[in-house]
Amino acid sequence: MIDFKSFPGYGMNLPAYRVRLRDPNADDAARIYQWRREERIRAHQPLTSLSIEQIRTDLERTSSNRLPDYTRDRFQWIIERVSDNLAIGWITLSIRTWEHLIGEIGYSISTDFHQAGYGTEALRLILQKAFYEAQLYRVEAKCSVQNTASYKLLEKAGFIREGVLRGYFNIRGFRVDHYLYSMLRTEFVGDF
Ligand SMILES: CC(C)(COP(=O)(O)OP(=O)(O)OC[C@H]1O[C@@H](n2cnc3c(N)ncnc32)[C@H](O)[C@@H]1OP(=O)(O)O)[C@@H](O)C(=O)NCCC(=O)NCCS
Repeated sequence: MIDFKSFPGYGMNLPAYRVRLRDPNADDAARIYQWRREERIRAHQPLTSLSIEQIRTDLERTSSNRLPDYTRDRFQWIIERVSDNLAIGWITLSIRTWEHLIGEIGYSISTDFHQAGYGTEALRLILQKAFYEAQLYRVEAKCSVQNTASYKLLEKAGFIREGVLRGYFNIRGFRVDHYLYSMLRTEFVGDF
């Protein structure tokens, strides 16, 4: 078992971050419901229509996100601005296999808060959780080839584009090619 605390840089710079990741609560269901309706959040994601109640049920399953937890394969946090505790988005970690220590991240930030660097900070925070706390070896992310904001964010964070998944998700009736990105633990350690 890896002692994540022995990794260089664990937790460093966190006080300087403008966002934190907190566990979701029932009140977040209405927020996520509204965010999922925003045009820029829907544009490149295969988001199905969910009621507030369905979202609340999903949040109950992820109301506590202690890592690692080998009984679960999905974790989710609210991205909260530190200065005023304002919820500005949400971010997920899905475990593809605990055996091989592979996870996948997904993220959305409410439109009013785009292009302010919050996504970059939230991504670094979830990578700390994924690599140091969950002790994953590989973290993947997929995004539509049309989702410039998402792949710029991933590349800025150091993700490597591995290829194109042809006709991957059905987004609003069209099969859309997606990029597959990944980062390995060995690439992340030393970034902080
Ligand atoms: C993807 C997303 C999370 C990015 O969050 P963000 O807080 O705006 O990102 P940042 O401000 O940290 O920007 C990161 C980099 O991406 C670039 N970028 C962000 N939005 C961009 C856009 N619309 N067009 C081009 N580049 C963009 C930034 O310029 C920045 O690089 P730089 O600092 O070198 O200039 C946000 O656009 C979003 O929530 N989109 C809708 C949901 C979504 O598509 N999620 C991803 C599904 S795969």
